[in-house]
Amino acid sequence: MSNKVTTAIFPVAGLGTRFLPATKSVPKEIMTLVDRPLIQYAIDEARAAGITEFIFVTSRGKGALEDYFDLAPNLEEELRMKGKTDMLEVLKQTNMDSGALAYIRQHKALGLGHAVWCARRLIGDQPFAVILPDDVIAADKPCLQQMVEAYEECGGNMVAAMEVPPEKTSSYGVLDISSEEGNLLNVKNMVEKPAAGEAPSNLAVIGRYILAPSVLKNLSSMGKGAGGEIQLTDAIAADLEKGRKVFGYRFEGQRFDCGSKSGFLQATVAFGLARPELQGDLSEYIKSIAPTL
Ligand code: UTP
Repeated sequence: MSNKVTTAIFPVAGLGTRFLPATKSVPKEIMTLVDRPLIQYAIDEARAAGITEFIFVTSRGKGALEDYFDLAPNLEEELRMKGKTDMLEVLKQTNMDSGALAYIRQHKALGLGHAVWCARRLIGDQPFAVILPDDVIAADKPCLQQMVEAYEECGGNMVAAMEVPPEKTSSYGVLDISSEEGNLLNVKNMVEKPAAGEAPSNLAVIGRYILAPSVLKNLSSMGKGAGGEIQLTDAIAADLEKGRKVFGYRFEGQRFDCGSKSGFLQATVAFGLARPELQGDLSEYIKSIAPTL
């Protein structure tokens, strides 16, 4: 097995209940930060990291995701006729090579671990990435690219890690580490959603992973974990028990939890302010309301 990573799994089969009623008919991953859906940010990050094979684990009601990456001949013709070449250029971001994108159904939302396991037949004996599109990371060098570069040196399994306030650890997978060197953390155990006061650290796992195929084997026999769901964290921890390495990677960049309303709104402001054409109006508006907050 080489340490080269060219395949990524995008688990997008969750119910997105925190955004109901919107997610009754709009997949969470199609929700828009400024003018691009969350999934576009995830795909761009994967491409920057050298990913060429994209696997979406979807569920009922996610048709808009498939359409988003299809051609839109009528729209393109209309834009061409109207001479809107800039818009045609924008649409190119959504073009995928034929055959580069595969869709697998997760029939029941049994958890993130189960969603990843659903893609097992499309993963050979090479390591693969997992990207959760609702974790959006603003970074000079895209987060997965940072991780892929580190992974080429160290192999094993790797999870993105960041410090969170101690009172928030019960919402995350949490790392127990034995040592750290630069951005790399040597993980000796990991716990999904530890009860208050039982977290081994405040180093949380966030939605970027590079995993060895052995994790898929672990998932085959994995029972339900925290929240009654089949947890990816538990399957990675099982690799530790088998003597395989797990590294945390302290990425550089700012992560937004776009799976929560507050995180999504913060990301909207941050990504809006980062756009030169919006910066002026938006910052003026924020300054005008700031004294009243
Ligand atoms: P979340 O924990 O955010 O769950 O899943 P969710 O269903 O998307 O949203 P809420 O909590 O109900 O609001 C994290 C990631 O794992 C995927 C989700 O699509 C999201 O990308 N997931 C989760 C699955 O693909 N299948 C599952 O069974 C659970």
